[in-house]
Amino acid sequence: MDPSYRPSLVHKNSSGSVALPFAGSDLVLSPSQWSRHVVGKISSWIDLDSEDEILRADSETTLKQEISWASHLSLQACLLPAPKGKSCGNYARCVNQILQNLNNMQLWLRIPLVKSEDDSMDVNSDNLIDSWEIWNSFRLLCEHHSHLSIALDILTSLPSANSLGRWFGESVRAAIINTDAFLTNARGYPCLSKRHQKLITGFFNHSVQIVISGKLVHRLPKGNTAVASNSDGNNVDGGQGHPLRPYLDYIAYLYQRMDPLPEQERFELGYRDFLQSPLQPLMDNLEAQTYETFEKDTVKYIQYQRAVCKALLDKVPEKEALTTTTVLMVVGAGRGPLVRASLQAAEETGRKLRVYAVEKNPNAVVTLHGLVKLEGWENIVTIISCDMRHWDAPEKADILVSELLGSFGDNELSPECLDGAQRFLKQDGISIPSSYTSFIQPVTASKLYNDVKSHKDVVHFETAYVVKLHNVARLAPTQPVFTFTHPNHSTDRSNDRHKKLRFEMPNDTGSAMVHGFAGYFDATLYKDIHLGIEPSTATPNMFSWFAIFFPLRTPICLHPGSSLEVHFWRCSGPTKVWYEWGVTSPTASPIHNSNGRSYWVGL
Ligand SMILES: C[S@@+](CC[C@H](N)C(=O)[O-])C[C@H]1O[C@@H](n2cnc3c(N)ncnc32)[C@H](O)[C@@H]1O
Repeated sequence: MDPSYRPSLVHKNSSGSVALPFAGSDLVLSPSQWSRHVVGKISSWIDLDSEDEILRADSETTLKQEISWASHLSLQACLLPAPKGKSCGNYARCVNQILQNLNNMQLWLRIPLVKSEDDSMDVNSDNLIDSWEIWNSFRLLCEHHSHLSIALDILTSLPSANSLGRWFGESVRAAIINTDAFLTNARGYPCLSKRHQKLITGFFNHSVQIVISGKLVHRLPKGNTAVASNSDGNNVDGGQGHPLRPYLDYIAYLYQRMDPLPEQERFELGYRDFLQSPLQPLMDNLEAQTYETFEKDTVKYIQYQRAVCKALLDKVPEKEALTTTTVLMVVGAGRGPLVRASLQAAEETGRKLRVYAVEKNPNAVVTLHGLVKLEGWENIVTIISCDMRHWDAPEKADILVSELLGSFGDNELSPECLDGAQRFLKQDGISIPSSYTSFIQPVTASKLYNDVKSHKDVVHFETAYVVKLHNVARLAPTQPVFTFTHPNHSTDRSNDRHKKLRFEMPNDTGSAMVHGFAGYFDATLYKDIHLGIEPSTATPNMFSWFAIFFPLRTPICLHPGSSLEVHFWRCSGPTKVWYEWGVTSPTASPIHNSNGRSYWVGL
């Protein structure tokens, strides 16, 4: 669009029609080039919250005209100029109107990472305001519309690491680095500070597009073709001679320098931020494919084998190794990987075992029989096709091995199953795992929030999801929620729980939005052998579990230094177990999933 164009200055001709002052014909590119390679840029002079009524009206007309032109060209996205001040109500109203009628096009609102109150972008100014607040009020006014995203302007100065971390939970689509933000290396070429490098690498990891903007501000050593061809910083001829080429080369170098994704991460790419319903292995029967996936996780079985080794050595002293047979029961044996791990532990320690493999899924039992026959374990392993809670065992076990754990530890009803199995564990018997604890932490997760919201019902907001968390900001360290210990000899055997937790926001984060809680577990298999996904202690290279996500119906804004109080309940009835959760401070949320009305696990 012609930068001097103002609708109010256009005199309509007698027929009332005017051609809009676009720079050139759209025929310079093919329709697919427009839609695949071009992001529209809305005129930066527009100011929809100006005191000047004419400017305000001109801005609204221009914004709508330009968006309409971009839609006509089927562009994927349009870059909206940053709100001029802190107050952006009218701008948000117009954008919200546009969003209601937009098909697929995304709107990327430009937000400077650092902004001063007087809009000078002078990062040394005393009046720095947290630009996240501007984004937050804009998206709240637009009701978290999923087509409204962010293009961050990166300047010389960067806020604290915690403050930057928040953006990784927001829908940042592009990072625009101004050439002023580049330093000069010893050879005269542009480079970035360590902190900028880290930030850019983080953006690469989150598929954020990097855009270089500004003029060539580096005087490059002689012989550099990029400068030789043009040094005015305005020539946009693409290719080798582009004046911003040295900056682009540096960004490409940062990308190439990144470590390749480990194989496991590559395999999990398609699962990133994809919400899945948790398994119900007690109520449903797992499929062969699911068992197959479990069985590939060698790390998990190595941990179990180490735990069984330790337990066997504790149970049977060396001098009794040849005369004592330990009774080990794998409860919930699936297709047998824990049976194999236990037998390997027996071999490793030179201890003798008698194994019972208890499994309630009749289909898995078929495979179990095949395995036992194939391996020639018929004299050692007895297969029991039965629910462990109802099995009448012929003898008691010295060691009970199970893996009934969900992403939140107890959410696949391990406590209820093991309480049932405890009848046939000797008084001094060992349970592997001996305990497990769930953990939560508040997160910004705008993508997950929008995915839940897209169902337009309460049920989905009151459901916990298994998800490979990626586009999230973890706002505070995790805290333990519920712990279960086995065997449980206490007189009060209720598995119902209530926990109140208080999360303190670090002072240098700024405000942040809590879209829900990420949940994890850690299990003690035996003594010092543990297994888990709690981020600070997670078992390396184990992939059987993704995190769990408990959404909030209305996201909660947390201010710097404030705290978030949340309650989690584990409740049970005759046929089901469920969680309820609710925030009580800084504001109260509804209690989610009252009576397990939306999400429950069948007993
Ligand atoms: C998470 S899978 C683990 C399977 C296997 N141990 C492994 O590591 O691959 C849990 C298994 O326990 C079984 N299971 C769950 N509850 C059970 C119960 N009450 N009695 C017997 N088996 C049960 C399920 O059918 C499933 O095969």
